[in-house]
Amino acid sequence: MVTLKYTEPELKWQIDNISCQTAVSLETEPLTSEPGFVLWQKDIPKEYWSLGGKELVDRINAAKAALGSRLVILGHHYQREDIIQFADFKGDSFKLAQWAAQRPEAEYIVFCGVHFMAEAADILSGPHQKVVLPNMAAGCTMADMAEPDDVLDCWAQLGEIGLADATVPVTYMNSTASLKAFCGCNDGIVCTSSNAGAVLKWAFAKRERVLFFPDQHLGRNTGAKMGIPLDQMLVWDPDQRLGGHTAEELVGARIILWRGWCSVHMRFTVEQVGAARAKYPGVKVLVHPECTYEVVQAADLNGSTEFIARTIAEAPPGSAWAVGTEINLVSRLARENPDKLVFCLDPVVCPCSTMYRIHPAYLCWVLEELAHGRLVNHLVVEPETARWAKIALERMLEVR
Ligand code: 13P
Ligand code: SF4
Repeated sequence: MVTLKYTEPELKWQIDNISCQTAVSLETEPLTSEPGFVLWQKDIPKEYWSLGGKELVDRINAAKAALGSRLVILGHHYQREDIIQFADFKGDSFKLAQWAAQRPEAEYIVFCGVHFMAEAADILSGPHQKVVLPNMAAGCTMADMAEPDDVLDCWAQLGEIGLADATVPVTYMNSTASLKAFCGCNDGIVCTSSNAGAVLKWAFAKRERVLFFPDQHLGRNTGAKMGIPLDQMLVWDPDQRLGGHTAEELVGARIILWRGWCSVHMRFTVEQVGAARAKYPGVKVLVHPECTYEVVQAADLNGSTEFIARTIAEAPPGSAWAVGTEINLVSRLARENPDKLVFCLDPVVCPCSTMYRIHPAYLCWVLEELAHGRLVNHLVVEPETARWAKIALERMLEVR
């Protein structure tokens, strides 16, 4: 197996940024007890800061009932248990984007997920629909790794060496709306982890090379699945001229991978796969394609959060599953499939700390405001950005 090397800044970043903030539970602690609250949206009124447990549940249900069919709550699979219980519809980022594009009836779409997902919902939904993100600080550290200026600079440098015209820009859904717009106006496209293979096929039918951002791992794993050799997939370092390569090296690249990654999925290792197999002979290892190439190669299966949930739901009773993805989803799958053994590949369990920022106090606040006819945390993508981003998103929705 080819061993890939990660740069020192990548490894240091992970060590600095990985710290478990929570235990997975249905019990809601008040905002003031959450260690992460210092980084969350602060202008939530103080009356919500000390609410916990049953009071929040009752108030959220009352606000939902008051809003009736005018409201739909969408929930990504990584949402905490005390949030997902209120979701009218749950799914992976692709399914939730599809939902937003196809359901004009809901006036308010309250998106329990992260910022880029809510942006996509705003872009794909109708002008009469309002998208609300309960906590505006619920971002995605991977999406933040592709700064629009750095991507534009990369594109300009590829242009200088005559490669931009032969390259299709492909952005993972986990990116800002402005990068989706960049793809829309440069004959590019968006992909999610559930359709990355089909999207790359679409891109290679148009041009010989792909610039893939921000997740190098999804790009590499998808390219490898299509048979592209690892040495034809180069990582672009935005801090170096030509991403750290010579023009000749870039000419030979089929995929130029942005230097981005997900800290949650970088926790999974080949050693953990070995340990799971040693402890539970016959176990199937199922991981998200944001994991490293080595982990994906060592696993039995990989796919989006929806694929992971479906695979386990359809598995025979008595089967065992070691799962490499975010812990809220793994714990839920374990609970929903009591006839199977489902456990997290990583014994030191961490949730996605930004998904976790959708705390029930925020959901309660935005719903009560809506019930009183006031719109807070209304997420609106600037119209010109939305116009171009929609082109790239709609291309994705059409790809089969
Ligand atoms: P999915 O597209 O599989 O839902 O994953 C989104 C995500 O952020 C994974 O880290
Ligand atoms: Fe972003 Fe990783 Fe969290 Fe997914 S799990 S939202 S990629 S930080």
